[in-house]
Amino acid sequence: MANPAKSCADTVAATAWWRTGIIYQIYPRSFQDSNGDGVGDLPGIITRLDYLAALGIDAIWLSPVYPSPMADFGYDISDHTDVHPLFGTLADLDRLIACAHGRGLKVILDFVPNHTSHEHPWFLNARSARTSARRDWYIWRDPAPGGGPPNNWLSEFGGSAWTFDAATGQCYHHAFLKEQPDLNWRNPEVVAAMHAIMEFWFRRGVDGLRVDAVFHVMKDADFRDNPVNPAFHEGMDPYHRLLPVHSADTAEVQIVVAGLRQVAKRFGDRLLIGEAYLPFDRLAAYFGRAGDGVQLPFNFALIGAPWRAEAIAGLITAYEASLPKGAWPNWVLSNHDRPRIAGRVGPDQARVAAMLLLTLRGTPTLYYGDELGMAQVTVPRDRIHDPYEKNVPGLGLGRDGARTPMQWDGSRFAGFSTVEPWLPLADDATEVNVKAEKGEASSMLTLTRRLIDLRRRHGALNAGDYGPILAEGNLLLFVREGPGETLLVALNFGDEPLSAALPGASGRGEILLSTCCDREGEAVHGLLPLRPNEGVVVAAGT
Ligand code: GLC
Repeated sequence: MANPAKSCADTVAATAWWRTGIIYQIYPRSFQDSNGDGVGDLPGIITRLDYLAALGIDAIWLSPVYPSPMADFGYDISDHTDVHPLFGTLADLDRLIACAHGRGLKVILDFVPNHTSHEHPWFLNARSARTSARRDWYIWRDPAPGGGPPNNWLSEFGGSAWTFDAATGQCYHHAFLKEQPDLNWRNPEVVAAMHAIMEFWFRRGVDGLRVDAVFHVMKDADFRDNPVNPAFHEGMDPYHRLLPVHSADTAEVQIVVAGLRQVAKRFGDRLLIGEAYLPFDRLAAYFGRAGDGVQLPFNFALIGAPWRAEAIAGLITAYEASLPKGAWPNWVLSNHDRPRIAGRVGPDQARVAAMLLLTLRGTPTLYYGDELGMAQVTVPRDRIHDPYEKNVPGLGLGRDGARTPMQWDGSRFAGFSTVEPWLPLADDATEVNVKAEKGEASSMLTLTRRLIDLRRRHGALNAGDYGPILAEGNLLLFVREGPGETLLVALNFGDEPLSAALPGASGRGEILLSTCCDREGEAVHGLLPLRPNEGVVVAAGT
C-alpha cells in the first residue's frame, strides 16, 4: 500500500515553484546604485523589480548584503542578521522582500555556513584566549612541531589554509582568506546558532537560501594531509596541487546538509541551493537520501565545459544519468565567480548558450546582465578588487571582470550610478544595455525574454522529459516532451551553416523561435537549415 505521508510529500515537491521557475542572480554591488556612491544597493534593486518581473523570471538570488569588512566582498560576514550600510538597512531588505512578493517574485538570500569574517564577534571572542567561550566555535590546531602549519591543506585563495595566531599560540583554519575563519560544525552550539540565522530569514519571508561553499563545512576529524594531485601542472590554480579529499566534500558534510534541510522543512520546505564545485558522481550526494539534502545542488558543468556540441551532449547525458531518483536538475552558465558566458564563447554563441540554458530540463539560473550579452570586462590592474586575483595573480582567475555594473542605458555610467562605479563598465556599454535592446526585435534581451516566455508557456520545456537525439560536428539536437507536445531543439555550435534532419515519422514541424528572432511560424519538412551560430526550437508535427 502507498505510504500516504510519502506520496503527499512527493506531490508538494512535484509542484514546488522552483521546479518550473527561473532564478536570476543579482550581485548587489553591481546592479543599481541609488545613493550615488558608485556601489549598488537594496533601494536600487527595488527600483528595478519591474524590469525583472517583465523579464519573466521567478526568483532573485542576492549575493550577500550583510555587514562585512568586505575582504571577500560580503562573503566574510560580521553580522548574519543585519544589512551592510553600503546596501541599505534591514528595513530596506524587508521592503525589497515585500515588493518582490508583490510582483510574484521569490527572494533567495546567500547563506554562508562555512566561515565568518575574522571581525565577527564570535571570532573576536574565539581568538581572545584559549579558554574563551567561543574558542571551539572555530577550528584551532597546534602548529607542527618546530613551527609551520598543522597539515598541508591549502586555501582556495592561495597559500596555506592555516594562519598562526601569535596571541594564543595556535593556528586557525580557513578554506578561503585568512579573514574568513572556518566555523567548527562539530560543535552543537555552532549548529544551533547557524540554524537560528536560517530561521531568522525564513521568518522574514525569504523563500530560499543559496548555501555558500557547502562542501567545505566538514573536515577530516583527524586532519590527515591531502594527497598530491598527479594531474597538476604549471599554469593551474596552485590550490589544485593537492586533492582536497580530507578538507572538503567529506562524508560528514551530508550530516550538516541534512540539518539545514530540516530547518527548511519546518518552514514549508523552503528552497536550498547548494554551491559545490564537484563532478557529477560526488554532486549527486547533495540531493541527500529521501529528501534530506538540498533541493538544488548547483550544476556548474556548463561553466567549465569545452564549447563543442559533442562535449555538451555528453555532459547533459552524464548529468541526467547521475541524478538520484526524484532529484530535479538545474543548470548555470555564469556566476560572480567565473568568467561570463559571452566572454567564454563570444557574443554569437552566447545566444546559442541562452537557448540551451532555457530549453534544458531543470531549473535555470541566469546571471544578471547575461540577458543583455554583457561582456567579460578586462579590469585594469589599478582597479582590481578581487582578493583571489591579488593573491593568485596572472592565471586569469580574477572575478572582477564578471562583476561589473549592470548596463541599463547608454549614458556615462550606464544608468547604474551617477558617479564612477566601483568597477569599470564594459567598453560596449553604450550599445549593450537595457534601453538600447528593449525595442530591438533581434537583441539579446529580446531573445532572452522570448526564450523565457516560451519556457513558461510550454510544459514540455519547463517540466517535460529530455531526450538526446544527435551530436555531430557542430550540431546538437535534442527533444523535450510533455503531455501532448514534442519540441525539438537544434543548436549550431559553429560559424558555418548546416542542416539537421528532423526526426519523427512525418519529419514536419513549425519553428517556434530562432536565436535570430526571425523565423517564428516557419514550416519545416525533412531538413531544417540552420544559419551560422543559430539555434531553433521546433514544434514537431504529427
Ligand atoms: C563561494 C562564493 C565566492 C566566495 C567563496 C568564499 O565560492 O561564491 O564568491 O569568495 O564562496 O565565501
